[in-house]
Amino acid sequence: MKAHGPNEILDVVSLFREQSAACAGELVTLRRDLHRHPELSFQEERTAAVVASRLEALGFTVRRGVGGTGVVGLLEGSAPGPVVALRADMDALPVQEETGLPFASSVPGRMHACGHDLHTTCVLGAATLLASVQHLLKGTVLVLFEPAEELNQGAAAMIRDGALASPKPDMIFGLHNHPEYPAGSIAVKEGPLMAAVDTLRLDIRGKGGHGALPHRDRDPIVAAASVIMNLQTLVSRETDPLAAAVVSFGTITGGTANNVIPDTVELTGTVRSFSPEVRAALTEGIRRVAGHTTTALGCTSDVTLRHDLPPVLNHPEATQLVRESALALAGPSAVVEPTPSMGGEDFALFQEQIPGCFFWLGVGNPDLGAIHPWHSPLFRADEMSLPLGSSVLALAAWNALKKSV
Ligand code: NI
Repeated sequence: MKAHGPNEILDVVSLFREQSAACAGELVTLRRDLHRHPELSFQEERTAAVVASRLEALGFTVRRGVGGTGVVGLLEGSAPGPVVALRADMDALPVQEETGLPFASSVPGRMHACGHDLHTTCVLGAATLLASVQHLLKGTVLVLFEPAEELNQGAAAMIRDGALASPKPDMIFGLHNHPEYPAGSIAVKEGPLMAAVDTLRLDIRGKGGHGALPHRDRDPIVAAASVIMNLQTLVSRETDPLAAAVVSFGTITGGTANNVIPDTVELTGTVRSFSPEVRAALTEGIRRVAGHTTTALGCTSDVTLRHDLPPVLNHPEATQLVRESALALAGPSAVVEPTPSMGGEDFALFQEQIPGCFFWLGVGNPDLGAIHPWHSPLFRADEMSLPLGSSVLALAAWNALKKSV
């Protein structure tokens, strides 16, 4: 570890704070341009082109088409050292925007309703700040612009395409906006932040027939109803009440007429957890309870449980760097400890390979109507959060390079 005086730290903090404030207008313009032109997962052609040309103008070496429509930018410092990565996601959603904002989506049925336009802007803002101190950087900055986060596929596609291969980052940072935290705040915590995501499919087979003569049939609808209720006991009776688990069904499909018992019913759902032990117990429990319940009712079941994403687990050192950066830039009143979310994030796949920290950037502001949740057609964000998001990412990266020297 190289010693560095407090004045040097103070200088970079002030520099990033002032520079990010000075380019606030530019960040807002960029974000509104992206917001007007939302693109669905793996179709982020225009967004990727905007990102790539900005990075090139800043002096980054740019690789396009990584994992489909992803972009990777690389900025070498003045001396060799560690590699630190910043990640943003770029995709929008099939949602019809209803905000009425002057910069609302220009594409019918498409909207940046999860605010990934804000994340792309923040990482480009951080890239701008870091490029301005390129001559002082000892190491390499890698920026990853990911496609198709909404499908949980973009991170995996980029990793398959070598985004982490050469150079391999030593640490990674990323953020997501959060309308439940006020603009100007940073919500950061060590350990679990977002849940593991598993997709469940259950095919229940019985024997169909006339609804008036159920004794001659094996009713998969009654079996499905029992399975749905019994599986809730995995959460309420088999999971430690101080741990977290969710089993939710999203679709039930079966039958053709009110008086016909069908042969089959299909259920799909989502299973969420944080710890590997709870995840394994839910996997075993779903097979056991669904199997025995359907057998007891004279039916059979096939269970398919696909492990989509691991949990977002924030590494202690990376978390400390984000917290320190946020405290230095915005002061203690701006930094909050969030409650974890059962939502999922494929940033977790990067964290499986590299220590990292994913944090929430507060964008809530009731005065601006920035109160609606992610994926709402009314989703809004307070853009005053953009300089803070940019500078926290940049300072965390700067400090990561410093600490590792
Ligand atoms: Ni999102």
